[in-house]
Amino acid sequence: MGQAIAGGCGGATSIMASMLRSLLFVPGHQARFYEKLAKFRPDAVILDLEDAVPPAEKASARAIIREHLNGPLLAGLGVFVRVNACGLPFFRDDLRTVVAAGLDGIFVPKVESAEALREANMVLAQAEVRAELRMGSVRLIPILETVSGVLRAEALARATPRIQAIAFGAEDFTLDLGVERTRDGLETRYPRAHVAMAARAAGVLALDTPWTDMADGEGLRREAREARQLGFTGKAAIHPDQIPTINDVFTPSDSELEHARRVIASYEEAVTRGTGAISLDGQLIDVPMVERARRLLDSADA
Ligand code: GLV
Ligand code: MG
Repeated sequence: MGQAIAGGCGGATSIMASMLRSLLFVPGHQARFYEKLAKFRPDAVILDLEDAVPPAEKASARAIIREHLNGPLLAGLGVFVRVNACGLPFFRDDLRTVVAAGLDGIFVPKVESAEALREANMVLAQAEVRAELRMGSVRLIPILETVSGVLRAEALARATPRIQAIAFGAEDFTLDLGVERTRDGLETRYPRAHVAMAARAAGVLALDTPWTDMADGEGLRREAREARQLGFTGKAAIHPDQIPTINDVFTPSDSELEHARRVIASYEEAVTRGTGAISLDGQLIDVPMVERARRLLDSADA
C-alpha cells in the first residue's frame, strides 16, 4: 500500500514514494465489475458510492461493497471507497457500512473545510471501534473539486494525520468555476499545480483527476505526464484500459534509472577527488541533482 511521504522539517523522502499510481473507479452497485479487477491490476480500486450510483441504488451499493471487502476479488489491491459528501444524509450510513476489515481508506468528495474532515475523522474513529479495527487505520483522502476546496488545499491536507493523499476532481471543479473542461486543460493547470504543491508541503500524496475520453489514449498519456511533472504521484482511471498507461507514466523508466545511477556514480567519484560540482554529458551536476537521483532510485526500490 501507498506510504505517506514523511513531512516535517522539509523532510520529504521520495519523489514518487507511492504504490498508488493507478486508482480505478468502480460503480459500487455493479457487482459484475468486481469480477475482473485482479486481472486489470490497478494499484487500487475506488469503489464508488457517490456520483456513479443513483440515489435509489445507494443502499444496495453499500451492501455489495461490504460483501466484497476482504473477499478474493479485491485481494492484493488497495481498496478505497468514495462515500457521499459530508453533510449529505448518506454520509454517515456510508461510513458505518463500509468501515470493515479489508478497507484501506475513504475518498471524501467536495471537501471545502477542515471541520468537515475532522467530522469525518470522528465518524471513522467510531466506525473503527465498532469494526474492531485499529484506531486511525482507515486513511482519508479528500477530493478537492470546488474552487474553495482547491484554494484551501494545504490546510485541508493538514486537517488530520489520517490523511494519506489529496485528490483533484476536474469535472466538479470546472463546473464550480463556470467553465468548460477542455482537452488542452488550460483551466485545470493552475489548480492542479496548487493541489500537488499543497500535498507536497503537507507531506501527503497527490492524486490527479481521471481523463474522461476513454478512446483517446494519447490524451491520457499527455495529461498523466503533465500531472507527474506538476508533482502528482498517481492518477485515477475510469476504464481498465487506462491502467497500463498510468502505471507506465508514474513508474521511473529504465533510462531515468540509468541516468540517476550515472549521476550518483559521477558525483561520488568527483567527491573522492575533492570536487563538488562536475559535469555529465555536458550538464552541470550538483547537490540537488544528486539528491533527486537518489530519491528516484529509492522510489523505484519501493
Ligand atoms: C471527480 O469526481 C470529478 O468531479 O472530476
Ligand atoms: Mg466529482
